Amino acid sequence: MAILEIVKEGDPVLRQQAEPVTQVTKRIRKLIKDMLETMYSADGVGLAAPQVGVSQRIIVVDVGEGPVALINPEIEEASGEEIDVEGCLSIPGAFGYVRRAQEVLVTGQNESGRNTRIRAEGFFARALQHEIDHLEGVLFIDRVIEIQAEAEE
Ligand code: NI
Repeated sequence: MAILEIVKEGDPVLRQQAEPVTQVTKRIRKLIKDMLETMYSADGVGLAAPQVGVSQRIIVVDVGEGPVALINPEIEEASGEEIDVEGCLSIPGAFGYVRRAQEVLVTGQNESGRNTRIRAEGFFARALQHEIDHLEGVLFIDRVIEIQAEAEE
């Protein structure tokens, strides 16, 4: 496994629409492992492939319930509403309140290429929505209601 460089706000890859993954190859599986390693080493709870400079539709999330990797994730259902604080590994030191659906049903493929669906609520649902936004070139600061703190690391 390898720790990858996390690209920061201002890098154009973060503003691109990421490409769908057509085949889950060995390269994709390695990328997922490296993304998880990178996320854990940065103390993050989620990471999207564009954040490591790869414009493909892959996300990883771990909100303390174990690692989840999703390829070509789509939000099929969203309900409820919740406002809470978010940050992003690509925007160090910035935190802000963002309105998200409280519960989502997300479909996609897992690292074996099998179709999978995840029902999530609360912080897990928030992390999924934040990471899926990255695949559309959207950052949490685009949606933020109020920046809470911006401190130097
Ligand atoms: Ni982020």
